[in-house]
Amino acid sequence: MCGIIGYVGKRNAIPVLINGLKRLEYRGYDSAGIAFLNDNKITVRRCAGKIRDLENSIKGERLRSFIGLGHTRWATHGRPSEENAHPHRAGGIVLVHNGIIENYFELKEDLKKKGHVFTSETDTEVICHLIYSFSQKGLSFEDATREALKHVEGAYAIGVINEREPDRMLAVKKDSPLVLGLGEGEFFIASDIPAFLKYTRDVIIPENGELAVITDKGVSISGLISKKPVRKQTTRITWSPAMAEKGGYRHFMLKEIYEQPRAISDTIRGRFFPEKGVVNLEEFSLRAGDLKKVNKIFLVACGTSWHAALIGKYMIEDMARVPCEVDIASEFRYRRPIVPEDSLVIVITQSGETADTIAAQREAQKLGARVLSICNVVGSTSAREADSVFYTHSGPEIGVASTKAFTTQLTGLYLFSIALAKAKGALKSGEIKELFSELLQLPEKVEKALRINNAVLKVARKFYHARDFLYLGRGINYPIALEGALKLKEISYIHAEGYPAGEMKHGPIALIDNNMPVLALAPDDKVFEKILSNMEEVNSRGGKVIAVATEGAAKALVRASHALFLPKTNYYLTPVIFSIPLHLLAYHMAVLRKCNVDQPRNLAKSVTVE
Ligand code: F6R
Repeated sequence: MCGIIGYVGKRNAIPVLINGLKRLEYRGYDSAGIAFLNDNKITVRRCAGKIRDLENSIKGERLRSFIGLGHTRWATHGRPSEENAHPHRAGGIVLVHNGIIENYFELKEDLKKKGHVFTSETDTEVICHLIYSFSQKGLSFEDATREALKHVEGAYAIGVINEREPDRMLAVKKDSPLVLGLGEGEFFIASDIPAFLKYTRDVIIPENGELAVITDKGVSISGLISKKPVRKQTTRITWSPAMAEKGGYRHFMLKEIYEQPRAISDTIRGRFFPEKGVVNLEEFSLRAGDLKKVNKIFLVACGTSWHAALIGKYMIEDMARVPCEVDIASEFRYRRPIVPEDSLVIVITQSGETADTIAAQREAQKLGARVLSICNVVGSTSAREADSVFYTHSGPEIGVASTKAFTTQLTGLYLFSIALAKAKGALKSGEIKELFSELLQLPEKVEKALRINNAVLKVARKFYHARDFLYLGRGINYPIALEGALKLKEISYIHAEGYPAGEMKHGPIALIDNNMPVLALAPDDKVFEKILSNMEEVNSRGGKVIAVATEGAAKALVRASHALFLPKTNYYLTPVIFSIPLHLLAYHMAVLRKCNVDQPRNLAKSVTVE
């Protein structure tokens, strides 16, 4: 996830681009750059770091231009550095990109054979070279871009300028966000409206497969392949600038919850080959041979990432039959763990900077183990120091409470478990194909599950005065009970506990009276009947049951005072779907209790102290 901006008009483009990038910084902040055109020459200025660093690097220079592009990066391919920062250039073609190019490796190899020289590790640079290669064959800027994009697979929103046709900017989108702003004699492209809201509220939203040509006279849109002109409607935006930064959502946490279908799609894109039944191990920087040798796995993490680790144990042991131990990072490093030679330590961390997790990772390496980091931040300490890395492509998570990072960690663990099971011969190819088919449907099912929001809000209105809350789950959804309780505690300050439902009768049942809401996770899996019995036990002691169940599970409804129904998926992916109402419930309760959702008291997004 990155932010792009482009300007064509009558004012100096440089401050417009810098201001726009500041408004897009929430989309990524590890490197930034701008490109602008003067006298048929494009100047590119880039740097690693934040927009402030870019701004400082050009301070005092009298830069002026009327057409330019800007980019703020959230690294996906290649570490955060000046060379990998956008805009990228090939010949006179300069480009910014948000998205992921799935077939960049093949395209790059092909272009290299034809003599193209690459200066970055990014997937983006191949688009630039492709457009340049077609323009060298005599095609116009527009046609070269159309032709180049026929070869590109993946997701993109791009802005391109060309020294040979300096009066125009081109913009195209496929599966990545792009909006066009229409001012008086000035026009904008951007990943999000706040980037240009200061200058205009009139926007056009291009569809996938549409190409926009932007000059200071106006914007014309046509089909990328068909070249047919497309008439678009202009929409007037009424958001305040603060609302706009959150994409119209009241809080980053809610925005991030709603970003999950996109985050999961980006995390699985290009990482497995459904027809062949194979996981792309290059993306884990692992070899099948290495996986085959693994006989023991340790999963180590903190907080919400530790909940992902607990679920990972269920997935790995069930699919691949390799024994796992799960540790809280601060425990692992001090407990003198016995780590056999053929062990793999999987470290799970959104930020890649959590001090306890990094210390545990170093301890594991000291003990001779190979470390795989499942991490969201490219170039972070965990990612740099690990032997192998799997990046979750959820984009920057700004809200302190982790949501989309958690479900993409689960997605990564699911892919890893399949890869390990395949290497170990523990799953048949038909079973693997079924697991892939369910994974492909996951973004859509998450989208469907999010429609539960209003029903969750009703439950929150009923219970937001509660003093305590109990969450019950079984099997692979027991860690989701822990996750629901953690989220409620951390953002709404209600005391909550998560319990394996079978354990309730061994103690916590004493807490149940008519003031105690009990949320029971009841997917229709092999322990469904058992959780129904636990719900009965709560009912008969006057507790209020909120059931979270699979669509059509009427038996859950009759045992609950409130029921929330979710789409059916396979056993391993239920935690992804079932975490959605729990994150939403914590969110709504916190809002109703007037708590600071995105920055809860005493907490920090990245805990860099032990
Ligand atoms: C809870 C939450 C924290 C983090 C934990 C680990 O909502 O966000 O519990 O999960 O601090 O952080 P990372 O994953 O960055 O190592």
